[in-house]
Amino acid sequence: MAPLYQLNSIRKRYGDREALVIDRLTVHEGRCSTLTGPNGSGKSTLLQILAFLIPPTSGELFFCGEPVAWQNSLLLRLRHEVTLLHQDPYLFTTSVRANIAFGLKARGISGAEQHRRVDEALEAVQLSGFQKRKARELSGGEAQRVAMARALALRPKVLLLDEPLANVDRKSAELLEELIVSLPARGTSVIIVTHDSEQSQRFGSDRIHLVAGRLAVPSHSVR
Ligand SMILES: Nc1ncnc2c1ncn2[C@@H]1O[C@H](COP(=O)(O)OP(=O)(O)OP(=O)(O)O)[C@@H](O)[C@H]1O
Ligand SMILES: [Mg+2]
Repeated sequence: MAPLYQLNSIRKRYGDREALVIDRLTVHEGRCSTLTGPNGSGKSTLLQILAFLIPPTSGELFFCGEPVAWQNSLLLRLRHEVTLLHQDPYLFTTSVRANIAFGLKARGISGAEQHRRVDEALEAVQLSGFQKRKARELSGGEAQRVAMARALALRPKVLLLDEPLANVDRKSAELLEELIVSLPARGTSVIIVTHDSEQSQRFGSDRIHLVAGRLAVPSHSVR
């Protein structure tokens, strides 16, 4: 079976700054991989490339064995398979339900199925009863959990999580961690950015560690 992602000689430059230089990286399907590294090491840049949101400056990216051509028709199809939960997720001014339903609508999921998926996703992040709340009036941690629910509701093939637990209190973080670890068995491979080395060990053995945009061996402390 082809790996989920294969990267060959991927580079990303912003102006004259080289943000990412990856000679070779394989990410396997059905795993929960962690992505660690200091601030500015290229984690978010890598996730945005893996989400097909920004093209690399050069190099080859394969998704499930298919070469990724950075052309709109292919990208639209691929983006439906991969969901990125941003470091600072943006919520619309509408209700929590409308926020979570937005992506479902775009995928043609409506009516009772849409309703059910929104309710299930909110239950999974322990925010049952928040459907009618205004998303912009939530606390930071609540907003992060709603953004997580929005990503979960889509049931993507790949979920890319950019520090999803940063503002979440310990009890909710433990709960979300359990949920995240259970996703590969339910058909969603996960790549998660974390600054917490103990947490990264709990997520499994597949680790991607970046230092100044390059793959490196993780040290004991990943901060
Ligand atoms: N849109 C951009 N334009 C110019 N430079 C950028 C852009 N995005 C990121 N960079 C730079 O690229 C490098 C990698 O940034 P990136 O956001 O990927 O790091 P990170 O590992 O996610 O950091 P953090 O832990 O702080 O979130 C940094 O030096 C950053 O300043
Ligand atoms: Mg980042």
